[in-house]
Amino acid sequence: MNTNDDIELKLKQEADEANIGRAEFITRVSLSIAAISAAVMAVPVVAALVAPLLERNRTFWRTVGHIDDFPVGTTRLVNFDNADAEQYAGMLTRSAAWLRHNEDQTFTAFAVNCTHLGCPVRWEEKAQLFMCPCHGGVYYKDGTVAAGPPPKRLPEYKVRINNQEIQLETAPLPITNI
Ligand code: FES
Repeated sequence: MNTNDDIELKLKQEADEANIGRAEFITRVSLSIAAISAAVMAVPVVAALVAPLLERNRTFWRTVGHIDDFPVGTTRLVNFDNADAEQYAGMLTRSAAWLRHNEDQTFTAFAVNCTHLGCPVRWEEKAQLFMCPCHGGVYYKDGTVAAGPPPKRLPEYKVRINNQEIQLETAPLPITNI
């Protein structure tokens, strides 16, 4: 092999090595971009999956009125912001409860939904009963079942008084603290 052939061969080898190095560099950059893109796209998906689990244990105190708005012996409907409106409650931005000012000066807040199939119960002042319009469920003023198909008493919210304001502890998922 003459000198020219040697030089040509050497140049060809250098060109091949340069091509391999460039291809490897492009491959690594492409893989890095793909990995970063996948990580960025995974963040909202993981957040959406994990958020409800984290929300499950969170509670929110909602003010429903001043203590003077509820005379002793009355049961009144109160409204408050739904605890899970931000994440997945859609248009259900407001919720409600029946708030009773008991004769012993304490307050009790009942869920509005019947424990049978969830219909909203109404308060009958004269009868001092909660009535469910769907299947005839009836509850006493303390939330215990009086008649009909409800399997258990009306669930209750925890109540506290903060600076003369009545507050209910609400949770994103259906309350169970009965
Ligand atoms: S939903 Fe209330 S009695 Fe059936």
